[in-house]
Amino acid sequence: MAALIRHVFQRSTRFLHANSSVALQTRFNSGLLVESGKYPFLQELGIEAENAGAFTGSGAWGGKGELVTSYSPINGEPIATVRQGTVAEYHEAVENSKEAYSSWADMPAPLRGEIVRQIGDALRKKKSAIGQLLSLEVGKIVAEGCGEIQEFIDVCDFAVGLSRMFSGRVLPSERPGHILLEQWNPLGLTGIITAFNFPTAVFGWNAAITMVCGNTCMWKPAPTTPLCGIAITKVIQSVLAENKVHPAVMTLMCGGADIGGAMGQDESVPIVSFTGSTAVGQKVGTIVQGRFGRCILELGGNNAIIVLEDADLNLVIPATLFASVGTQGQRCTTTRRLILHEKIYDEVLEKLKKAYSQVRIGDPLDESTLYGPMHSQQGIEVYENAIKNAVAQGGKIEAGGKVLDRPGNYVEPTIISGLSHDAPVVQSEAFAPVLYVLKTSSLDEAISWNNEVKQGLSSSLFTKNPGNLFRWLGPKGSDCGVVNINIPTSGAEIGGAFGGEKHTGGGRESGSDAWKQYMRRSTCTINYGDDLPLAQGIKFQ
Ligand code: UN1
Repeated sequence: MAALIRHVFQRSTRFLHANSSVALQTRFNSGLLVESGKYPFLQELGIEAENAGAFTGSGAWGGKGELVTSYSPINGEPIATVRQGTVAEYHEAVENSKEAYSSWADMPAPLRGEIVRQIGDALRKKKSAIGQLLSLEVGKIVAEGCGEIQEFIDVCDFAVGLSRMFSGRVLPSERPGHILLEQWNPLGLTGIITAFNFPTAVFGWNAAITMVCGNTCMWKPAPTTPLCGIAITKVIQSVLAENKVHPAVMTLMCGGADIGGAMGQDESVPIVSFTGSTAVGQKVGTIVQGRFGRCILELGGNNAIIVLEDADLNLVIPATLFASVGTQGQRCTTTRRLILHEKIYDEVLEKLKKAYSQVRIGDPLDESTLYGPMHSQQGIEVYENAIKNAVAQGGKIEAGGKVLDRPGNYVEPTIISGLSHDAPVVQSEAFAPVLYVLKTSSLDEAISWNNEVKQGLSSSLFTKNPGNLFRWLGPKGSDCGVVNINIPTSGAEIGGAFGGEKHTGGGRESGSDAWKQYMRRSTCTINYGDDLPLAQGIKFQ
């Protein structure tokens, strides 16, 4: 069991770097980007040459574990070092959060909402700086980095409203003089394990909602994005301190397998939210379920856009470009399959190839860049393997296909045609910018292809025909958690519940009624009469 758990959490991000962002070795501080003066946003965020990577909620920052280095995928250079947390510090944080929970759960929900409102405001002030850090540490373009912080701000706003609105129901009782009502209470500590590709927004979806619900939270960021975790934690801690709220309402534990493993097994963590690969998520889910904990799983996607003959191609091309090339194909919502009706197949493919050829590849911190580096060397290997396998299975490279010969983890965004809808490479998720283009003759066929993959996260149909639209939304339509019309598969708003079916894990985060997962429901029956009638009319005398 211990070996299994270690194995699971060693792989608890979508992909760990083989040679780049985190080197498990001690480095000297000389040559760190943080000391170069080139990135003043690092100073604005309080990032230093050596950073404490654990906040156990006792006030001071810790990190008694391994010293690791965060490297930038833009140029392979070291940004700064981080002292990771240890399992002993993990347990210390759990104990502190129990203490924090006792006052936090008692605070009226709208007052907790007020704290979350202030966190949103503090993030507004740091949006540009953290957006740039996301570029430097993750590799996403600065517009997408800022967009990620905007998601966090938006979900804070949502949570503020929710803090006055989450409600149970009052139901009619079958017994005279009785009333039936539902009461929602918090669960305790929420463990949040995030992936490298959305290191801050996904934490925000969970943290903002769970905090207004009355829970505390502990964050374990991906091992390759510790600086994003530290920067966000500093912002949240400044708000908690200003309001004299117990700091262990939110704790941070940078680390790897040992921390994730401890969290997965720990009965003190009634709910674990995990974002990452299907393979790892299934194991995390099994471990947490093994102790009857709750798990919110947000795992892989093999998302498709279907384009029918009546679609508005002026929407299709930019939508497909954003969804397949954006974030270098490393969103769980990235479009990996483009299913084109045979009547518009040639036209769309030609237009898309032209659009791909105009993508501005470069430094993601440069505002004119549309497409930056892959996050890691391992991502490049995934990219190369996908292309090699696609060609071996009969695919034709229509655009891209090569790793770029320049510093940093750059690859060309790639389009591949000629594969069968059920080719193994089309059926599997490669977390890389490789798009498979398929030709279909009908909506029914396209829907069956959309649904035949293991994953069920996001899907889009482009059509102007209301009949097609309602078939797509109905019981014989898309089987995904996100079902779109005339917009890309990626770029969801926070107001809806986000997540997917089948091997995507079934979890839902962020908006709508996702809050219910962070709370326990009590069904309360109250007798306000003078008799004791039993339900179902039972006489027991
Ligand atoms: C993810 O890739 O894990 O819908 C999350 C989107 C973003 C979230 C992606 N709002 O693309």
